[in-house]
Amino acid sequence: MNTYPLRGKTALITGASSGLGAEFARQLATMGSHLILVARREKRLQQLSQEIAAQHDVHVHIMPLDLAVVDAPQTLHQRVRDAGLAADVLINNAGFGLYGEHAHIPWEQERQMLMLDIVALMQLTKLFLGDMLQRDKGYILQLSSIGAYQPSPTYAAYSAAKTCVLYFGEALNYELRHSNVSCTVLSPGVTATEFLQVSGQQPTRYQRLFMMQSPEVVRIGLKAMLKRRPSVVAGNMNALVAWSNRCIPRRWSAALTHRLMTMH
Ligand SMILES: NC(=O)c1ccc[n+]([C@@H]2O[C@H](COP(=O)([O-])OP(=O)(O)OC[C@H]3O[C@@H](n4cnc5c(N)ncnc54)[C@H](OP(=O)(O)O)[C@@H]3O)[C@@H](O)[C@H]2O)c1
Repeated sequence: MNTYPLRGKTALITGASSGLGAEFARQLATMGSHLILVARREKRLQQLSQEIAAQHDVHVHIMPLDLAVVDAPQTLHQRVRDAGLAADVLINNAGFGLYGEHAHIPWEQERQMLMLDIVALMQLTKLFLGDMLQRDKGYILQLSSIGAYQPSPTYAAYSAAKTCVLYFGEALNYELRHSNVSCTVLSPGVTATEFLQVSGQQPTRYQRLFMMQSPEVVRIGLKAMLKRRPSVVAGNMNALVAWSNRCIPRRWSAALTHRLMTMH
């Protein structure tokens, strides 16, 4: 990969306090990109900012914020402007899932998830896309999931939210085809982060067997983003699963996914 196109640019990463978001920050800093890091846990952002500043000659700004709050994306956009910054790259990474049957998950938790995984992602895209189109340059990377490719019992609302992200991102990438701005969707499979701990799931046999590490997933995502691809599934096994779902009826996919998500 050409490691220079982002040198001196600024990347805004949501959900940078752990997992894939922190890894995006590290790899983008290695490419010479300045960073704006967003998440709720300020201390984590400070620690990451210090770690990166000690190793790379880039500016790191931290903007602690709860993005699930109504209009938080507008607040973030204004903070970026007030700081005299502009995002050349937007990594819409903040998100979480909830494990369990829809009937038993409290609505307030699901509402927060949808606010973050869908509403904040779309609003941030709209706000920063406008700036990028004015400059006619920019990259947007949306975090979806392998769960977007089939109905996923035990992650029903989460996987439906990620399907929304997948189709939204791919459609947007097409709308942007005549500009120098692009939108790429990254769909990871299970990856070693805080995701399962937050969702409340013990890893199943399938997940333990095929778990990927953040550095590899992030490398795949950034490579696809720099090529302005509409979307990419992380890893050959996950790509095979996504592809094979097209060949069988969706009710079979739902039954199979249920097995893989519950078999310990
Ligand atoms: N790991 C997987 O297996 C997997 C698979 C497919 C897709 N994904 C997707 O990958 C993305 C990154 O997740 P991850 O695996 O890295 O999980 P993670 O380690 O739990 O990281 C999630 C990040 O989102 C932030 N976040 C959560 N709620 C937030 C809020 N209300 N406002 C602002 N930031 C918030 C968290 O920071 P704070 O808690 O500090 O706010 C954290 O930095 C998510 O969109 C997830 O759905 C993950």
